[in-house]
Amino acid sequence: MRSLIDILELDVTEIKELIDKANDIIANPVKYSEKCRGKKLATLFFEPSTRTRLSFEAAMYELGGNVLGFSEAQSSSAAKGESIADTAKTTSCYADIIAMRHPKEGAPLVAAMNASIPVINAGDGGHNHPTQTLTDLLTIQREKGRLNNLTVGFCGDLKFGRTVHSLINALSRYENIKFVLVSPEELKLPSYVKETLKKNNLEYVQTTDLDSVMPELDILYMTRVQRERFFNEEDYLRLKDSYILRPERLNTAKADLAIMHPLPRVNEISVEIDSDPRACYFKQVLNGKYIRMALILKLLEVE
Ligand code: NCD
Repeated sequence: MRSLIDILELDVTEIKELIDKANDIIANPVKYSEKCRGKKLATLFFEPSTRTRLSFEAAMYELGGNVLGFSEAQSSSAAKGESIADTAKTTSCYADIIAMRHPKEGAPLVAAMNASIPVINAGDGGHNHPTQTLTDLLTIQREKGRLNNLTVGFCGDLKFGRTVHSLINALSRYENIKFVLVSPEELKLPSYVKETLKKNNLEYVQTTDLDSVMPELDILYMTRVQRERFFNEEDYLRLKDSYILRPERLNTAKADLAIMHPLPRVNEISVEIDSDPRACYFKQVLNGKYIRMALILKLLEVE
């Protein structure tokens, strides 16, 4: 029995298999519509979510399975003081697989250590978000036709943005990726993630200036400033609008740039960009359902 807590638990061959499977599901959805008949997914969400929770639930329904769970800590026994370990043991009695989101880094790992069913990390604090990364990799593969030879810009809150941490770790294993890290000084990539880049001798630049790097990017991965992880509101207010992508900013960008964002968007991409053919963030939303279908099949060992 296997869980997914950190994207690096999947090797590149397995990631390729998941991407291939997701593409097959997109092409032949009917073939998969009964694969999880009789199985149950529990979504244990201790933190807000729209896409991640709904895409997990839609994924399980489209596989013919069922879903149970909660979408806020206050409606679970966590509000009475129950531990993550006990919640995981309890859920193991009722479901076949768990997707858990929690504000505390490491909570899904604790759940996995105590559950008797697979646990998927659906986001733990400012740490990791492996299924968003699978979504992003499927999107990059579909949009660019490859996962190597790319210059990838990450822009916004690189400190607290867990989707950034997981995607950087994942991309560090492909050939000839150049990382361009754009953030305010206060929101730079944490040193523990930068270590991955250094350790693997990967090429990266750090800057505060998005416009100066725009022409070289193949992918621009925009992120929201993570308000809920700030220690004080003043810092958030000062930093929240550090980067706003407006159409004129794309004048120097490549014609085949892929603009990505895990969403939710607050202010960092103006809505006029949504109709630009380079905008991929709503395609990411849809891809998220298919790759989660592929992941559920893999972890439940369904043929
Ligand atoms: C992200 C998350 O929860 O980390 N959202 C998502 O899952 N698509 C990004 C964010 O909240 O900014």
